[in-house]
Amino acid sequence: MTEAAAHSIRPAGKDALDEAAAILRTGGLVAFPTETVYGLGADATNDRAVAAIFEAKGRPRFNPLIVHLPAAAALEGIAEVDRRAQDVAARFWPGPLSLVLPRAKASPVSLLCSAGLDSLAVRVPAHPVAMQLLLRVGRPLAAPSANRSGRVSPTRASHVAESLGAEVSLILDGGPCPIGLESTVLDLSGKEPVLLRPGAVTREELEAVVGQLRDPEADGPHKSPGRLKSHYAPRLPLRLNAKAVGPDEALLAFGPTPPSGAAMTLNLSPEADLQEAAANLFAYLRALDRPDLTAIAAMTVPEESLGVAINDRLTRAAAR
Ligand code: TXA
Ligand code: MG
Repeated sequence: MTEAAAHSIRPAGKDALDEAAAILRTGGLVAFPTETVYGLGADATNDRAVAAIFEAKGRPRFNPLIVHLPAAAALEGIAEVDRRAQDVAARFWPGPLSLVLPRAKASPVSLLCSAGLDSLAVRVPAHPVAMQLLLRVGRPLAAPSANRSGRVSPTRASHVAESLGAEVSLILDGGPCPIGLESTVLDLSGKEPVLLRPGAVTREELEAVVGQLRDPEADGPHKSPGRLKSHYAPRLPLRLNAKAVGPDEALLAFGPTPPSGAAMTLNLSPEADLQEAAANLFAYLRALDRPDLTAIAAMTVPEESLGVAINDRLTRAAAR
């Protein structure tokens, strides 16, 4: 960033949305809420603005960005839409699903968003603030999660301020994100559909529309850089499948009967509700990441529906 602007957090009312749109149209960065996590937005057609995202996040250049649109119809001229893409878009948009599609020939979207690939990730978010912002700006918005690269995604405006406060002049506050996990990423750029990142739209729901999904492992790391193993890392080591816990540890609990004895315990969902657990995950990981403790011990979450995405994030947070 050329200037170290002091951030301001503003409730996402009409005036704040107007100001945000003006900042974005002149190449600035604005953080805004979506139904998944807060995004760090920039005009996707402005190379310098997109580059500023990478700079603000300290993100490796090879990690491409998701471009947000107000409707599937806005894909015209931006990315190639085949029958499969049409079908999943009709079924799940607006919603927590990103599609990786071939770039259109003369796509106005910055090549930086594709980070060297010939594809582009796009989604239509289901959040009134994100939607109003997209409509006001009238341009596609590139928006990765509004955290420093490799750190947990922000699900509240205050998380953005903690992580990127100096890099972003305006943070639109729309309250806590209802889903709290990043979008499902489905790669439709090749012949077979590939699930690159699990999320709130599940494998089963997608397979009902596009048929069997291939796993990304076969593609190697170059194809899905977001699956770098250590990606959602708190500072403390994370211990998985915890059944007991020590007095120097923080416990990320799940369900009605967590073990006792931790220095601090936060329960993702005492009722074992996976949706509630997903919405709490990143906020709790942050709160438990205390420098005076030795580790975060995480209890097992069932490997079903949203639990798949939760375990994916936990496994990566544990990898180092
Ligand atoms: O829920 C979300 O998707 C949030 C909100 C703000 O929309 N955004 C988000 O963006 O999580 P980000 O940049 O943190 O994650 C984007 C993921 C990364 O794993 C990235 O590697 C992958 O999508 N991705 C983006 N473009 C891609 C492409 N062309 N090919 C393969 N993977 C891509
Ligand atoms: Mg991210």
